[in-house]
Amino acid sequence: MAKKFFIETLGCAMNVRDSEHMMAELVIKEGYEEASSASEADLIIINTCSVREKPVNKLFSEIGQFAKIKKPEAKIGVCGCTASHLGEEIIKRAPVVDFVLGARNVSKIRDVLNRPKAVEVDIEYDESRYAFGELRTSLYKAYINISIGCDKQCSFCIVPHTRGEEISIPAELIVKEAVKAAKSGAKEIFLLGQNVNNYGRRFSGEHPKMGFTQLLREVSEIEGVERIRFTSPHPLHMDDEFLEEFAKNPKICKSMHMPLQSGSTKILKAMKRGYSKEWFLERAAKLREMVPDLSISTDIIVGFPGESDEDFEDTMEVLESVRFEQVFSFKYSPRPLTPAKDYDNQVPQDVASERLARLQARHNEMLDEMKSDRLGRVYEVYFEELKPGGMVAGRTDNNWLVQAKGSEELLGKIVPVEIVETSRLGSVGRVVA
Ligand code: 5AD
Ligand code: SF4
Repeated sequence: MAKKFFIETLGCAMNVRDSEHMMAELVIKEGYEEASSASEADLIIINTCSVREKPVNKLFSEIGQFAKIKKPEAKIGVCGCTASHLGEEIIKRAPVVDFVLGARNVSKIRDVLNRPKAVEVDIEYDESRYAFGELRTSLYKAYINISIGCDKQCSFCIVPHTRGEEISIPAELIVKEAVKAAKSGAKEIFLLGQNVNNYGRRFSGEHPKMGFTQLLREVSEIEGVERIRFTSPHPLHMDDEFLEEFAKNPKICKSMHMPLQSGSTKILKAMKRGYSKEWFLERAAKLREMVPDLSISTDIIVGFPGESDEDFEDTMEVLESVRFEQVFSFKYSPRPLTPAKDYDNQVPQDVASERLARLQARHNEMLDEMKSDRLGRVYEVYFEELKPGGMVAGRTDNNWLVQAKGSEELLGKIVPVEIVETSRLGSVGRVVA
């Protein structure tokens, strides 16, 4: 009987893709099948995130839970960013763990499987040219990595220490992967990297000069590709050429992630973000002017060391002015290996909690104001998933979740849908015949 694996994936889209890569290696090259639960698996993998403290603490209790329910011979592997960061400490603290495999080392999954207590966490390891097997968890959308690692040194962020320095994946490999995905029916290509619009600054080995804007053009020329999304871009690298391509290329979905982090120029400086409040506001305004029906999402950290009431008001001002369609907001969490954890002006927890609550409450109000604009309008929805109760779910070009009555025959299709009901979490629509 085939061996079975179970993967739990935490964190960002990069991790989702890393999990798919590991699955591909296991299924295609080792003959594994996916288990429906951890208790029937021969291999349990936890693909971790270390961006905030909470998930790291959760990891060890989770390993304990898996250890209780697993088959006696089943192996447990810890992968991803916390694996990179803690390395062999994980096995010391939880001896039940069989191997530790860091982010940007996932191509070694077959190797560590059979090496007891293997630890592979080299953040300089270059797998930018590794040919992973072809396996995707969605038929309709293809995640494709365009770079590994991150060269930015944001003072709050652990990622450069878990995913190492930035290396772009050769454009011809990206295009080849996108062509294959499109041929097998994926109309949507989702380009992934820690800092996508910095693409092309460094390749391993010789490679013709190429920037992100050019890469977008090339992917958009592929037959069968109808939608292109990408994450995450950095506001600093949003130059005019990039914004113009974004606005005028009909295949590029009109939703932009602009991670603000803070609205205060003083705090942005302390975060080493490289842009000011004014730059961010100007770029967002320009985008809104160029792209009707644009949706902008963002990440915001409150309570960064030294954030005064006035600094927080700057963040609230940007929130009012840009009117983000989606906000991922977090309380600052001091991380090991980052400069900001040693700043001496840490913000008390209760102040940070209060600011987070205020920001989220105001954003919810704004969403309530914005959502009524959608009612009665018709959007092109790409249906990707069956939902209970005879519903199918998909996304509009500008990334709103929409459900409508329907079945398999709508999956993989882009169809016009009239919005009949809408809430903060998503909308319900009616397929327009
Ligand atoms: N504390 C809180 N939030 C953080 N993020 C990254 N590092 C930290 C930290 N130390 C947030 C940023 C980033 C998102 C992925 O996680 O907003 O954009
Ligand atoms: Fe988490 Fe960042 Fe690693 Fe993604 S890259 S898994 S967000 S720490």
